[in-house]
Amino acid sequence: MHVTHLSLADFRSYARVEVPLDPGVTAFVGANGQGKTNLVEAVGYLATLGSHRVSSDAPLVRMGADRAVIRAAVTQGERSQLIELELNPGKANRARINRSSQVRPRDVLGIVRTVLFAPEDLALVKGDPGERRRFLDELITARSPRMAGVRSDYERVLKQRNTLLKSAAMARRHGGRSMDLSTLDVWDQHLGRVGAELLAQRLDLIATLQPLADKAYGDVAPGGGPVTLEYRSSVGAGVEPARTRDALYEQLIAALAEVRKQEIERGVTLVGPHRDDLLLGLRGMPAKGYASHGESWSYALALRLASYDLLRGEGNEPVLVLDDVFAELDARRRERLAELVAPGEQVLVTAAVDDDVPGVLAGRRYAVSAGEVERV
Ligand SMILES: Nc1ncnc2c1ncn2[C@@H]1O[C@H](COP(=O)(O)OP(=O)(O)OP(=O)(O)O)[C@@H](O)[C@H]1O
Ligand SMILES: [Mg+2]
Repeated sequence: MHVTHLSLADFRSYARVEVPLDPGVTAFVGANGQGKTNLVEAVGYLATLGSHRVSSDAPLVRMGADRAVIRAAVTQGERSQLIELELNPGKANRARINRSSQVRPRDVLGIVRTVLFAPEDLALVKGDPGERRRFLDELITARSPRMAGVRSDYERVLKQRNTLLKSAAMARRHGGRSMDLSTLDVWDQHLGRVGAELLAQRLDLIATLQPLADKAYGDVAPGGGPVTLEYRSSVGAGVEPARTRDALYEQLIAALAEVRKQEIERGVTLVGPHRDDLLLGLRGMPAKGYASHGESWSYALALRLASYDLLRGEGNEPVLVLDDVFAELDARRRERLAELVAPGEQVLVTAAVDDDVPGVLAGRRYAVSAGEVERV
């Protein structure tokens, strides 16, 4: 798929901007702070309903405005669709498809698919497990948009179970009447059911992604691998994750039973996909804590290129976004990466100076300056 038009109102630094887009490569070039990343961030938002830079919507709304609107015309094969998202921080966001009456924002997922690589992705390798869980879950949702529902069900079940545990912890501390724990059993089953579904998808994803990530790392940093992806489950140290959804359910239920006493003491859920991690290995060592800066950076890029490969292989080709990528690479790696991505259906690149964009990626260029986006 590709985006044929992007239109923003009160999004980040833009009061209004209209950007016609073509398939193939488009480069946004301009000095620091001029609004290049803001443009591609908006495209990414359409695909994930979130920003790759911030965890809440508030910073996405232009200072002084009270809501932002992202609109895009999207073409997939013969089909064109218009999508519109209105961001209302503190209130529910709104969405429309083809100017029809409102749909849930979640219904927009799957129309725009992106793989976005940005400097922030270094956190995939160096950051907390939450970064890697988000990486997995966003990719799961790109593969299968209905997983957005499973993810939000899981969040909801987790929240309610934690509330229950917290009140159990309080009751215990204050020597009150101990609570009826059969309610907790019911929430264990909910958590186990939804959690197993999420886990099954993550495990399947990792198995599919592993060879692609290893290959991509070899492309970005020849001879530097191998890389290995390994799921770290909270069900217990050294416990291999089960293979089927039913077995994963049983595993979760058993693990919950084991930690229940601790959970009631601490008032939080200690087992489940929200406590898991993806272990990134490089030449037999964990990348986190061992890999050099350049290696970590190549690793993060390899994970994104592998995601791109995976989504392309499964049909609907995503838009590839490379935010500020080329400046970090030496001339040889720059050319390699450019050759790798040049045939993509749509590639959006940002760079501070023209010379950072490799010649192979000659496409449309826009100059971005003080919120003006002009074709050059
Ligand atoms: N909510 C907002 N309201 C108004 N301005 C904003 C808002 N959020 C960010 N900005 C402004 O947008 C600019 C950053 O834009 P952006 O991140 O797109 O820059 P860039 O062109 O990618 O720069 P760099 O080359 O440094 O990455 C900053 O000057 C920032 O002050
Ligand atoms: Mg930027």
